[in-house]
This record gives sequence, structure tokens and C-alpha cells, in this order.
Amino acid sequence: MATVSQERATRRRQRRAPQKGTKRSKVAFAHPSEAEFARILDFYGVRWEYEPRSFPLRWEGERIVEMFTPDFYLPELDLYIELTTLKQSLVTEKNRKLRHLRELHPDINVMLLYKRDYHRLLAKYGYGPLAHEDVRGIERVLITVDELERRITELGQQISQDYAGTEPVLIGVLKGVIPFMSDLMRHIALPLSVELMSVSYYTGDAEGVRITKDLDRDIAGSHVLMVEDIVDTGMTLNYLLHYLRTRRPASLKVCTLLDKRARRLVDLPLEYVGFEVGDEFLVGYGLDYLEKYRNLPFIGILKPEQDGRKPRRPSRRARGKRMEKKESPK
Ligand code: IMP
Ligand code: MG
Repeated sequence: MATVSQERATRRRQRRAPQKGTKRSKVAFAHPSEAEFARILDFYGVRWEYEPRSFPLRWEGERIVEMFTPDFYLPELDLYIELTTLKQSLVTEKNRKLRHLRELHPDINVMLLYKRDYHRLLAKYGYGPLAHEDVRGIERVLITVDELERRITELGQQISQDYAGTEPVLIGVLKGVIPFMSDLMRHIALPLSVELMSVSYYTGDAEGVRITKDLDRDIAGSHVLMVEDIVDTGMTLNYLLHYLRTRRPASLKVCTLLDKRARRLVDLPLEYVGFEVGDEFLVGYGLDYLEKYRNLPFIGILKPEQDGRKPRRPSRRARGKRMEKKESPK
């Protein structure tokens, strides 16, 4: 039987070979969270490479004695991502390495996703340890009805000025955008038209985003303003902007009510932003948690997850998935 250290060495060797997406089946991921993360990227059509590069961190004479190999490289975004689903003690070590890496290679873009960030990413798609089935209630109001009204009036005025002399097409993605779209368009003093689209959501397979409701009209040559409720990782918007560009609009800009900057993976220019928000799960004014709360007239923060307390039932989606896995032997 191989000793623990032999096993580790073998794994390190396996891990060193650079492996490119999207042939996930061929990649020997070191951890299931990495495979899941790759599936999410595949779904949103974000290209990735698995551990394509090791950065030397420390030398003894000529010999490299310490290296750092980020888990993923996203070539289109020129971004390295390190997933740390590890124990806190190991995270501290990783942070040290990362700081060192940034000092030695200030030109590289590298991002650390903590266990909690990763679990939140999964929870957003309805599974993982932070996914809840029960409704938890509102902790506090983050943006009041008055603040929404004031800011949306300003956005409408700004857009009216910037698009003066044109007839813009506002495109929204259902369903979260409904209240914002309807308030915003009433503050734009221009002839305009509205289009609504629907896209499928990540559910654990890597089929890729599907447009479940497409535009009703041709937008070639039109000035298009994409209206969003919230930009989080940016993956949905990135996908949609690529798609809309193939329809040859005269211009394509983005207006989002909320910008959750702290969680961005795909950085996109957002021309109009209502509010920058922190890394908290928000509901109301269109935003849902398991389809609830969309009708709140304000934006609120959900009660924080009570992780570490009593175990919770996994979400329906997660249970469904587990059953599927059982039934389909690999
Ligand atoms: P992205 O692709 O990660 O940018 O996801 C954007 C989508 O995630 C939004 O259109 C929302 O549907 C959803 N989302 C992101 N953050 C929140 C939140 O705090 N509350 C509710 N939905 C959210
Ligand atoms: Mg949305």
C-alpha cells in the first residue's frame, strides 16, 4: 500500500500536468469542488484551463523549493482562480503563498475563492450546504422605497440625456428585472421599445445556458441597453452580451440596478449602476430567494445562514441530483 506521502507525491505529479477545458471528463481534478466549478464555467461558456502554470515562489540557490499552482486559468479573462475549500489553517498558508505570488508577479491577476464564497456560489444555484428550502425572513432593509425611487429617477434622466435623438431598445432578463424595468422605463423621456428574454439557470449539469425566450424583434442597427437587476459573478451578463453582439446592434450598453462587485469573476463595463452592494444575499424589488420575496417594494438582506448549527435538509434540486447520480452509474 502506498504511504500517505507517496500518495501525495503521485497526486502532485498528476496535478502538475496542465489540462485544458472543456473536456472535463479527461481532467483529473484533485477535488470534487474543482469539477463542480468547471461545470459552472462550462455552463456559462467561460473557457478554462486546469492548473496550466506553476509559479516559483522560493529558491535555494538554483533550486526551486516552493511553487504555487493556481487551480484554474480563465484565458479570456486573463484570470487565475484558486479554490480553497480547505480547513482554515491551510487557508492561512494559501494566503501567505498568494501574497508572495502577487509580490513576485504583480502583473498576474489571481483571485482566491474561499470555501464560503464557493458554497454561496452553489447555494445561488440551489444546492450545497448553504442552500435552504425554508424561508428565513428579512434581516434588515438595505435600500428603501424612497432611495430606489430617487436613484431610478436619476438613472432615467441620465439615460434620456445620453440617448437623446435615438430610439433605444431596452432588453431585460426575466424575472428579476420586472419592477426595475417598469420603473426605469417610465423615467426615460424618449421613444423606446422593450424586449424581454429568459435564460436557463445552472442546475448542476453543464449543458450550457439556453435562451428559453428570445427577442421578438431584430435589433440590428439599434441602440440597445441591457437592463439587469443585479450583476454578481457577471457570468450571465457575459453570456448575454456575447449573444446580443451577434445580432449586430449599433451600440450595446448595460444598466444594472445593483452591482455586487465583490463577487465578480467576469469583469464587464457597466455604464449605469444604481447601487453598489456588498457580498450579501439580497431579496425584494424583483430579487428572489427560491422564487419568494420578489414583490417586496424595498431591497432587503436575508437572515444570514445558520451554518454550523443544526443540519438542514438539502434543497429539492440537490436531492433530485443525488438521486439521479445514484441511478446513473458512471
Ligand atoms: P451572475 O451571473 O452571477 O452575475 O448572476 C446574476 C443573477 O444571479 C441575477 O440576475 C440574479 O438572478 C441572481 N442573483 C445574484 N445575486 C443575487 C442576490 O443577492 N439575490 C437574488 N438573486 C441574486
Ligand atoms: Mg437576472
